[in-house]
Amino acid sequence: MCGIVGVLGNHEAAPILVEALKRLEYRGYDSAGIATIDETNTLDRRRAVGKLVNLSDHLVHNPLAGKSGIGHTRWATHGAPTTDNAHPHRAGPVAVVHNGIIENFRELRTELAAEGFDFNTETDTETVALLAQSHLDKGASPKDAVEATLSRLDGAFALCFLFDGENDLMIAARKGSPLAIGHGDGEMFVGSDAIALAPMTDKVTYLEEGDWAVVTRAGAEIYDAEGRRANRPMKQVRMDANMAEKGGYKHFMAKEIAQQPTVVGEVLSAYVKNETITMDMGQVDFAKIDRLSIVACGTAYYAGLTAKYWFEHYARLPVDIDVASEFRYREAPFSPRTAALFVSQSGETADTLAALRYAQGKADHIVGLINAPESSIARESDVAIEIHAGVEVSVASTKAFTAQLTSFAVMALKAAHQRGHLDDTGLAQKLGELRQLPGLMSAALSIDDATRAVSAKLAEARDVLFLGRGQMFPLALEGALKLKEISYIHAEGYASGELKHGPIALVDQHTPIVVMAPHDGLFDKTVSNMQEVMARGGRVVLVSDARAMKDAGDGVWTSITMPEAPDLLQPILYAIPAQLIAYHTAIAKGTDVDQPRNLAKSVTVE
Ligand code: G6P
Repeated sequence: MCGIVGVLGNHEAAPILVEALKRLEYRGYDSAGIATIDETNTLDRRRAVGKLVNLSDHLVHNPLAGKSGIGHTRWATHGAPTTDNAHPHRAGPVAVVHNGIIENFRELRTELAAEGFDFNTETDTETVALLAQSHLDKGASPKDAVEATLSRLDGAFALCFLFDGENDLMIAARKGSPLAIGHGDGEMFVGSDAIALAPMTDKVTYLEEGDWAVVTRAGAEIYDAEGRRANRPMKQVRMDANMAEKGGYKHFMAKEIAQQPTVVGEVLSAYVKNETITMDMGQVDFAKIDRLSIVACGTAYYAGLTAKYWFEHYARLPVDIDVASEFRYREAPFSPRTAALFVSQSGETADTLAALRYAQGKADHIVGLINAPESSIARESDVAIEIHAGVEVSVASTKAFTAQLTSFAVMALKAAHQRGHLDDTGLAQKLGELRQLPGLMSAALSIDDATRAVSAKLAEARDVLFLGRGQMFPLALEGALKLKEISYIHAEGYASGELKHGPIALVDQHTPIVVMAPHDGLFDKTVSNMQEVMARGGRVVLVSDARAMKDAGDGVWTSITMPEAPDLLQPILYAIPAQLIAYHTAIAKGTDVDQPRNLAKSVTVE
């Protein structure tokens, strides 16, 4: 989604802004722009479609001077990704950058048109700039103009304003989309997140819902939604400037896949001590609830779907699972003694946040499972459980997925113990299994070469099917999602047993079928489904362990051999081949692995 940065500095702003925008590239974007105020106090801007390098080229030929400025990466919502629609938007003396959606922009456009304003873009953002201009034209100060403008805006947004003639002023506002104020030494910054600001400062104040801030080099005056002065704490963020570096890897995705043994180790050391679970679930006692309702989007949804198998199998706790965009509007009733759990890496996904707000006051407990502890979902949950994945930059989620799964595995065991389905000895044994996870993940990473060979074949395919049964079914869905996200090959995940009810019609010698099937209790059933596919000329890629290869490897097109592992660990472990298949296929196809077309890392619009 869109990225925002602002600088009131002591050095030329344009290179700093472009550098900060690079750090926000991971969010996904299709155009970019900056505006600055130069030494004559004049506001000017440059914008370009496509990658940031186009903006940099434009700036080489048409430089922008000045030590104050704002910048933006745009992920198009209203209007195509054109230069005219790119931010900053300017109206007279005002420039503004915006993340989110102004829902009442049509109504505002009509009003502004009646006042005689013309429109140069198809965006909702232009109405914000024009509204501010209309107040300034009537003699309002920048602060009053912004306050009056904000009071007219519906929707979820983050905004940052810059004013012609004011080289020591930015006004930032947050309603629904996060925004951080950075404190430097005689310099001040604004950013969509602390990653953008990492090289400049680690001292950050997060605006709260409805806050807006008047920022000068001397500091920030923050106001709440009612216009009262608000005191928000300044925090020292743990932000290693190298977090947003590839660290020798070709892509962030490769780096993040390789980090997984360490990440799952972090999760376990946060939540497991010797033979006990230390995960603090606040008021949630699994023995006192009858149902868990899990809601999420994308990869986080598949983590939740896997968790359903675990909660139901180990803890005998019924689980409902929904994609957030459906849940938020289907007016789901909550039965008594239900906890609602929202899974989100970013903690800012608009649909998941809206679903959480729907559940507030209806479910007995609101639990967030998040990676970003300062995020909206973390703040608005009764209890927020961190997945400890560290910053994830690649749009296609990898280490956050396995960190979500590992956290869920611990939580499901806690539930099983609290509900009396696992005694102390059983729990100690399961925790012992979990402790094998980092080592097994490292071993699984050695399939890299085998996966590359498989991917060279998959790259030729137009369609790919992924099959899994039981707890491996969500992984089939995740494998298909990863492949389509970054290689643009059409892929579908199916429950192995469902294949014969329709999708088998797709099977021919051109359709590879990736079967995720460790040698578990359901293996023989999956082998039957594999035979049905092969009997119809289908090309099976079997992802399984050595034992299974021996029993059922005959006739498969190609295979990837995984280490053997306890049942509970299989979906976490098999995430690695799912991710590596997608990664190497994307490389073979030459697509943009870290920033796939049309996708955004954190989807802050509906
Ligand atoms: C976007 C990302 C996905 C992610 C989903 C949910 O679509 O591209 O990778 O799984 O959002 O994101 P969240 O931050 O809520 O986990």
